Amino acid sequence: MSLAIPSLSPSTLTDLVDALVERGWYLGEGVIDATLCQALHDELRERVACQAMQAAGIGRGEAHSLRRDIRGDTIHWLDRATTAQRHYLGAMAELQQELNRALYLGLFEFEAHFAHYGPGTFYRKHRDSFRGRANRVISTVAYLNPDWGPADGGEMVLYDPEDESREVARVRPEAGNFACFLADRVPHEVLPTTRPRASIAGWFRRNASLNGIIDPAH
Ligand code: OGA
Ligand code: MN
Repeated sequence: MSLAIPSLSPSTLTDLVDALVERGWYLGEGVIDATLCQALHDELRERVACQAMQAAGIGRGEAHSLRRDIRGDTIHWLDRATTAQRHYLGAMAELQQELNRALYLGLFEFEAHFAHYGPGTFYRKHRDSFRGRANRVISTVAYLNPDWGPADGGEMVLYDPEDESREVARVRPEAGNFACFLADRVPHEVLPTTRPRASIAGWFRRNASLNGIIDPAH
């Protein structure tokens, strides 16, 4: 991988901030650098091949449980172990700075995991945080698969926060595509995939607490 640290373009940052303000979600193509996507994809596939992934659960802390009928991915939390991870986290740090500058969101941390969805798996409709417990403020998803075809499935569908049955957008999980939305507002799901599907889901967090309890990072 080249040594240049890939940044998000200034026009991407402007479009993203505008879209979040206007409708609560943003989708872009070619947002994440192609070489970086490839390095991240290689890293994820390597982990999958040597079974160094963990099954993803739902809920946090005591309420955490494995529910393959709700969510079928395996994950690995980013830990800055590779150059590719550090570059991706660097780009997200720039995005965090821009969100704080433009929207005064007071975001203070970013957590993210690789996600691998094997053929036949999905993630049912959900939100990424709950009102009043909104440590996760902004959700992000970066897609890593090159050459994703229309018959391959695995799209992420976004729904209207006011009418959860109304689809508002559909994202093909193609390398370079990037989605960003308000974590406690926008219901979304991952449709069943026919091919191994690779993404990085991440969340900008605020240091809010409820009754003095701060959500654990993961
Ligand atoms: C999630 C999620 C979407 C995707 O991990 O919470 O909604 O497209 N992921 O990977
Ligand atoms: Mn989600």
